[in-house]
Amino acid sequence: PLVPLRQQLEAAEAGGYAVGAFNANNMEIVQAIVEAAEEMEAPVIIQASQGAIKYAGLDMITAMVQAVAQKAKVPVTLHLDHGTDYATVVSCIRRGFTSVMFDGSQWPKEENIARTKEIVKIAHAVGVSVEGEIGKIGGVEDDIRVEEREALLTPVSDAIEFYRATGVDALAMAFGTAHGHYKLPPKLAFDRIEAVHRETGAFLVMHGGSGVPDEDVRRGIQLGIRKINIDTELREAFVEELRRQMAEHPREIDPRKLLGPAREAMKAKIKEKMQLFGCAGRA
Ligand code: G3H
Ligand code: 13P
Ligand code: ZN
Ligand code: NA
Repeated sequence: PLVPLRQQLEAAEAGGYAVGAFNANNMEIVQAIVEAAEEMEAPVIIQASQGAIKYAGLDMITAMVQAVAQKAKVPVTLHLDHGTDYATVVSCIRRGFTSVMFDGSQWPKEENIARTKEIVKIAHAVGVSVEGEIGKIGGVEDDIRVEEREALLTPVSDAIEFYRATGVDALAMAFGTAHGHYKLPPKLAFDRIEAVHRETGAFLVMHGGSGVPDEDVRRGIQLGIRKINIDTELREAFVEELRRQMAEHPREIDPRKLLGPAREAMKAKIKEKMQLFGCAGRA
């Protein structure tokens, strides 16, 4: 069934694990995610970015997820990833998403709080969960010095203030991860994760999950991470296998013969992450 994010994260909090949130933008990816979840008996979050919605179409992405989630035995959440404008968020809610992220990190704190509160109000009125972001989780950048990296982390007091003021169901903050592949292993601010979780009980989200070493993922979960976003490693698993298939079968013109194995490779990567996150067997 399709369920709100809050329900999934409450179960994760009680069980001491994190739920995987995997980015999808086409049929093969949606199938890989739900098949992995069913085979692992794992709760799961399928998330679509604004770019994914532009690529697949909002109706198409919603219909595909609903088609597989309705008959799935495991709980599935359909979540908007990094929604930055009011219209997109409202359209997703209206179409049947069970969770939305409002990413107001481009605005100063007060404005981010005000905009996020507005989203929480409308989403909660219809039983949809909300993830908010305080501080900016960027992409991997070159030549960033330690002091600069420190300055990019969300202050604990900002995270607590944002969480209490907005009433979000899940909280994304900058604690050292970044979107994409890391050039150097990331240094996570575990002290901040722990402090925010201890002070507020907030369900914390790890963005930029691809490339984070397994031991850091486990430690983060121990300290309060309840949702982990993975995109880059899935794309890589898919496209690497696709390239291999095309090289091995240069005359193959049936897309299914090439995309099928790529879908399987992605599914294997998702299952690996579900084991690591501790959500396997929890559905
Ligand atoms: O955080 C962003 C996700 O990895 C989605 O990326 O905007 O290219 O779909 P995208
Ligand atoms: P990665 O691409 O590093 O896995 O990050 C994904 C993410 O945070 C999507 O919101
Ligand atoms: Zn992200
Ligand atoms: Na990453």
